[in-house]
Amino acid sequence: MRILAIETSCDETAVAVVREQRHKIIVEASLFSSQIPLHRLTQGVVPEVAARAHTETIIPTIQAVLAQAKVNHGDIDAIAVTRGPGLFTSLMVGVETAKFLAKLWHKPLIPIQHHEGHIYSNFVGKFPISNFQFPMLALIVSGGHTMLVLMKKHLQYKILGATLDDAAGEAFDKTATLLGLSYPGGPEISRLARHGNPHAVPLPRPLLNRPDYNFSFSGLKTAVLYGLQKQKIKKTRNQEIKITRADWAASIQQAIVDVLVAKTMRAAKEYRVKTVLLAGGVAANTSLRETLEKKLKQECPRTKFSKPDLAYTTDNAAMIAAAAVFRYYAGDTCPPETLTADPNLKLASIAKSKKTR
Ligand code: KG4
Ligand code: ZN
Repeated sequence: MRILAIETSCDETAVAVVREQRHKIIVEASLFSSQIPLHRLTQGVVPEVAARAHTETIIPTIQAVLAQAKVNHGDIDAIAVTRGPGLFTSLMVGVETAKFLAKLWHKPLIPIQHHEGHIYSNFVGKFPISNFQFPMLALIVSGGHTMLVLMKKHLQYKILGATLDDAAGEAFDKTATLLGLSYPGGPEISRLARHGNPHAVPLPRPLLNRPDYNFSFSGLKTAVLYGLQKQKIKKTRNQEIKITRADWAASIQQAIVDVLVAKTMRAAKEYRVKTVLLAGGVAANTSLRETLEKKLKQECPRTKFSKPDLAYTTDNAAMIAAAAVFRYYAGDTCPPETLTADPNLKLASIAKSKKTR
């Protein structure tokens, strides 16, 4: 079974062809056209600029993926697309293109929720699908969302907690801007942090000891802002500043990782999960990957840990195709005429919408 998937929820025009064979999800081609250089000019994504770039690159990217996978439309069994959440005008480019292709080529159309895609990025490439045991706990950490999700079976999600304000990725990006680093800030902080002392700046660990599974990262950004302002004043008075930019980066990363790992560990124990999955752009962070894996090994040795290959942590279309493999077998397809982009689409609402069809 072979799926062509499109992902345009934010700033990457991503297309992939993925084959499911003997319970393995094999990527035949996965390409994206990155808008990062464009958005660096504005230190963030301007929706109109992103949508225009998607419009220009979507067709060439589809053509390139089909050529690289050495397949044509006759070899494709279904078209999958990210329906939401994300920037409405960006999502629309992907959704309208997928609807058009589904109609033109007479293929089933499978809408996918973006975070569901991130969860299923763990299934891309490495394992037979049956290796994953339920219940599973997914920590989704991206630029717009931070969530702990419990799964008792495929495509069923219970959100245990989420961020009350800024997401983890947003905290990396915003504090990176305060440090004068370029967009997107997560990889920059992670790179600098290697040379810094993670205990140099005592930063807050918001909601760490609260019994629920919610997160809050906006206080961290404020603490960094005030800390840097104090340093600036010291500098104007010619006082010695001992904390380097690398120390700031390492301390910020440590504060974020500490909170994410502590809450994930607590949920893993409370719900006695058999698998913990890490997902989303921040899953590329080496410190988070290593700390969570180590803690699980120490404290829950029977729980399996899964992290996506680095290539499938940040937004990509192979993860959308992987989720679509499961939706395809569950019969969750959608008539092209009825599909609309939904910038606020919640995890699990695609499954619910099936009943209303
Ligand atoms: O999942 P994603 O590609 O897009 C959204 O769905 O939001 O996540 C992007 C986020 C950005 O905030 C980016 O700074 C962060 O992932 N990120 C990282 C790293 N690589 C990407 N954060 C920390 N460390 C990294 N190595
Ligand atoms: Zn994402």
